Amino acid sequence: MIIAVDGPAASGKGTIARALAKHYGLPYLDTGLLYRAVALNVARMGLDLEQEADAVAACDFDDAMMTDPALRDDDVGAMASIVSAHPLVRAALMQRQKRFAAQAGGAILDGRDIGTVIVPDADAKLFVKATPNIRAQRRHAELQARGGTASKDRVLADIRARDARDSGRSIAPLVMAPDAALLDTSFLSIEASVQRAVALVEAQR
Ligand code: C5P
Repeated sequence: MIIAVDGPAASGKGTIARALAKHYGLPYLDTGLLYRAVALNVARMGLDLEQEADAVAACDFDDAMMTDPALRDDDVGAMASIVSAHPLVRAALMQRQKRFAAQAGGAILDGRDIGTVIVPDADAKLFVKATPNIRAQRRHAELQARGGTASKDRVLADIRARDARDSGRSIAPLVMAPDAALLDTSFLSIEASVQRAVALVEAQR
């Protein structure tokens, strides 16, 4: 079984996808980490994505990179949303994601374009959303727990900027697949969201 989970930043899609992976015993790929890894390569190596050789170098990283704690930083997420609009980057990462999805026994992937571009024939598709205010509240609490000092307004402004970039780009924009089930987590606990997600997957498979 292949499950596609898409949605904007801090919608709860990662938490839900991880819980579904556990529930169904499927390997899980957080595809946002791939774009974050590219952003980190660009920053650390001073690469210019307009140069083809640099774009290739930026997308050339091994799985060990995926555990770099810097990938979780909010400014890396913001950079990721800029580099992810680049056609060469999307093309390079597409193969990697398709390979992951094609493994025997199935897989679950979360991101922005999983149900629309990466695995349009997934057995189950979820589109997870929550209001910008609630997503900002969650992200702010997360940041504070990690010692961050950004204000709630700043976090909300960043979320809105990222939404606009991810939804407005010409290639693989963030958009709900017509055959995806919508899961609004704005007023649901994590447990209730996961329960609902399992029910929505069961109804589709
Ligand atoms: O999900 P996460 O916040 O880690 O993603 C970081 C950025 O990577 C997103 O804002 C988006 O621009 C990009 N991304 C994407 N396609 C995906 C996953 C992430 O364009 N499938």
